[in-house]
Amino acid sequence: MNELLEALWYILPAYFANASPVIFKGKTPMDFGKSFVDGKRILGDGKTWRGFFGGLFTGVLIGVIQYQIKPDFYGSFSIALKLAFALSFGALLGDLIGSFVKRRIGMERGYPAVGLDQWGFLVSALVLAYPIKTLTTGQVLFLLLVTPFIHWGANVLAYKLKWKSVPW
Ligand code: CTP
Ligand code: MG
Repeated sequence: MNELLEALWYILPAYFANASPVIFKGKTPMDFGKSFVDGKRILGDGKTWRGFFGGLFTGVLIGVIQYQIKPDFYGSFSIALKLAFALSFGALLGDLIGSFVKRRIGMERGYPAVGLDQWGFLVSALVLAYPIKTLTTGQVLFLLLVTPFIHWGANVLAYKLKWKSVPW
């Protein structure tokens, strides 16, 4: 496989973990409606438990499917599973950190934070997955470059399909 296509293949569970909560969206917020010391919500209503676990499940499932298609890429099922879990958990964690930061600077739920929304989940996923399977510097730079466009495209699509109320 081409080096750049390989990078996209690698990151796929993170993309699915980040995108699927919009379909799962639950009711109970992860911060249980609680406010932080600044009086603003800790995370806000956009981060729910159902969305989190739905995203984690979807990302890991994608990894399992990827292993069936291309086992050589991972070497073993256990590595494929660990990698998919790290990428998915990392993506969801990065998204939570992003919401925490957005609330601290006074951005309402759903308000677009250019940079944070597109790179937060990616960087967090890459950091957690790196010890399990490394990428080249070129591959990391490529993912940093293309992810904002893919993120934007996916959100416009989710908006057109009426899964989201805003196209970002
Ligand atoms: N979602 C969820 N649980 C999560 C993440 C996302 O239920 N852990 C759902 C919510 O319905 C959310 C939608 O997916 O509104 C889109 O996710 P995102 O854009 O990350 O959330 P925002 O609503 O933009 O909230 P924030 O400003 O905190 O990022
Ligand atoms: Mg958003």
